Amino acid sequence: MMINEYNTYQLLKHNTFGIEATASRFVEFSCEEDIIAFIGNGFYGKSLVIGGGSNLLFVNDFDGTVFHSRIMGVEVVEENDDDVLIRVGSGMNWDELVAYCVEHGWHGLENLSLIPGEVGASAVQNVGAYGVEAGDLIERVEAIALENAGKRIFFHDDCCFAYRYSIFKAEEKGRNIITYVTYRLKKSAAFKLNYGNLRERVEALGGATLGNVRRAVCEIRRAKLPDPAEIGSAGSFFMNPVVPAPLAAQLLSQYPNMPQYPLADGNVKLSAGWMIEQCGWKDNPHANVGVYRHQALVVVNLGSATGRDVLEFAAAVVESVKEKFGVRLNMEVNVIS
Ligand code: EPU
Repeated sequence: MMINEYNTYQLLKHNTFGIEATASRFVEFSCEEDIIAFIGNGFYGKSLVIGGGSNLLFVNDFDGTVFHSRIMGVEVVEENDDDVLIRVGSGMNWDELVAYCVEHGWHGLENLSLIPGEVGASAVQNVGAYGVEAGDLIERVEAIALENAGKRIFFHDDCCFAYRYSIFKAEEKGRNIITYVTYRLKKSAAFKLNYGNLRERVEALGGATLGNVRRAVCEIRRAKLPDPAEIGSAGSFFMNPVVPAPLAAQLLSQYPNMPQYPLADGNVKLSAGWMIEQCGWKDNPHANVGVYRHQALVVVNLGSATGRDVLEFAAAVVESVKEKFGVRLNMEVNVIS
């Protein structure tokens, strides 16, 4: 058996916020057969599937079973002159996958360099950065159903990917354990450099190559985002709000410097980080919780914060943004209670 099972397990090392919480039971598995055998005729208890824990906020001890995949490996399942299809174990570290693809000359994931977390979560969360979302490249997701240990395959369209959204956060939430994700990557250049100052940084490194794009993205992220090994956070705490064009226009007339990103559907995405900074939160930590000095969208644990401390602080941030801009922020982080 490759199942590892622990009782009353400390989750501190499994959440980048650095919150102390225990799980009644913690189960790790390294192949599909083992998790199928473990589930048997169905698992109906309270459960949570975690990846790298980089998008979780524990507000209590978890009185159920936490599952964590240790399925590793990258397998080329199909290749032609243009594309390569790779099937990747859900427990693989995300950035190791991006580095592997860059080394092999496969295009698509390079803008997603240095995002914390694991492969399984890339599908749940549809991780995105610098104009690329993982869902754009996902061909299929394989999973084992908790209700009957049956194998399930979700093709791209079944996953309903949208901004920080997939079916695994909605109808399928809590129903499956993702085991493999298959990505379709390109063998020739398909760079996306239009976000922010990415193109400029890539040019400064000597021009668009896979290695330079990865380097530039890593540099930008290191400058703006805290290293989870040093400061506890879950990356962006809130999602960027999407508002109707007339409201965006009204806000722009009031705040001419407000960053705005018009979307294809006519709505406009606003920058939550900018609004939070305008509300003065960079200089206003509450005891052991604050926002990161280089990126106000990132709520940070300044030392021994509890999940409740973080939630209280977040509620004050939401309130202030609502009052100043009339816009409601929604959490990106998955609150576990
Ligand atoms: N801004 C400020 N002050 C701040 C933060 C941002 O003025 O404190 C301004 C920036 O100057 C810029 C705009 O807001 O004009 C957008 O900022 P940025 O490029 O840093 O991106 P973001 O919208 O704040 C999103 C993602 C990040 C991702 C970046 C780059 C969400 C919730 N967050 O942040 O994702 O890395 O774009 O693509 O969509 C994450 O999800 O954990 C994450 C880090």
